[in-house]
Amino acid sequence: MTLHKLIPNHIAIIMDGNGRWAKSRNQLRMVGHRAGLKAVRKTVQHASLIGIKALTLYAFSSENWKRPEQEVSSLMSLFVYALKREAKTLHKNNIRLNIIGDISRFSAQLQTMINDIQAMTLNNTGLILNIAANYGGRWDITNAIKNIVHKIDNGQMSIDAIDEEIVNSEISLHDFPAIDLVIRTGGEHRISNFLLWQIAYSEFYFTDILWPDFDRKALDEAIAVFNKRERRFGQVIDS
Ligand code: IPE
Ligand code: IPE
Ligand code: MG
Repeated sequence: MTLHKLIPNHIAIIMDGNGRWAKSRNQLRMVGHRAGLKAVRKTVQHASLIGIKALTLYAFSSENWKRPEQEVSSLMSLFVYALKREAKTLHKNNIRLNIIGDISRFSAQLQTMINDIQAMTLNNTGLILNIAANYGGRWDITNAIKNIVHKIDNGQMSIDAIDEEIVNSEISLHDFPAIDLVIRTGGEHRISNFLLWQIAYSEFYFTDILWPDFDRKALDEAIAVFNKRERRFGQVIDS
């Protein structure tokens, strides 16, 4: 195992390339998503082992509903299958599972499963595993605005009290460490409406590796590159 100087507190991953992975093998896209689930398992295991505090995985974007109905429903079934299969193992490994995104659009069965597993793992002290499902960065910010306006409407706060801290407190993941590193697999160099507010000072790492091929070595490589970056946060660092 690679020993890193610095382990990022929080890594977020855009897991892209499942479809192309399957296509290159003349298989259906769904075969790629299933192989992607295996890569999730490996990545979670390794992240937990090397002491990453939080891992946030982009599983389904608010735009992914635009895919063919067959693919969307297969992805939902895979999600249910994965939660059912992995819940106990995650709990046993002291991992806390947290879903971010608008889960109200999911089936009642899936919503119940999500709530149950979140409750079961709430007090676990190991890796925090956030799964972004029906998540969009713009949805997140819009939702924060709604909540703030609601509080003003109720007389709980005044407009003048709004500052970055208040906005932040309404945005997903605010209670976890800041995101140090965003990884995107699959060769595209874009955010695709993943976290927006949260990545103001994150480092970015893009790799051509297709998500189903992502493994321990690939995660170690991303962290090694992260270790070479100089983060300045707008300041001047004397050399
Ligand atoms: C990412 O893989 C997984 C999801 C969006 C659910 P894709 O399905 O986007 O794979 P490509 O980009 O078509 O290869
Ligand atoms: C981003 O990948 C969403 C997830 C990985 C869940 P997409 O494949 O949906 O993004 P685009 O369409 O290439 O921007
Ligand atoms: Mg894609």
